Amino acid sequence: MKIAIGCDHGALALKESVKKVLAELGAEINDLGTFTEGSVDYPDIAEKVCAEVTSGRAERGVVLCGTGIGISIAANKIRGIRCALCSEAYSARMARAHNDANVLALGGRVLGPELAGDVVRTFFTQDFEGGRHARRVGKIMALENK
Ligand code: RB5
Repeated sequence: MKIAIGCDHGALALKESVKKVLAELGAEINDLGTFTEGSVDYPDIAEKVCAEVTSGRAERGVVLCGTGIGISIAANKIRGIRCALCSEAYSARMARAHNDANVLALGGRVLGPELAGDVVRTFFTQDFEGGRHARRVGKIMALENK
């Protein structure tokens, strides 16, 4: 699976540990930065990662900032994106099974590498269940046109 990933300066270290987990899962990773400690604006990172997903160049995305909150809010403003901020595996499983989330958000100042690894492994191995959940996801996406 092709996965785009990006973070702001609040999640540099977590991005690296997440990339290791994604590589173990066999992902083809496109890291869109940031690559240094210098301060950057998380909406710019969200835009870059989500453009990979909405264009089809990546199947899914991972976005990280200090809390994961700002970058998830920004990602969810982008047409076609269903971004879920997850801090434990149950939410990650449900984000895929019920919400068909296509972008995972993580907080670099919230999660340690072990917990983040659990979240990432769960998110990237759980399938969407479809059925009644597909109807609801369809209604979410219809909100983009209202
Ligand atoms: C940056 O200092 C910080 O505000 C950002 O990483 C994130 O936590 C915002 O939601």
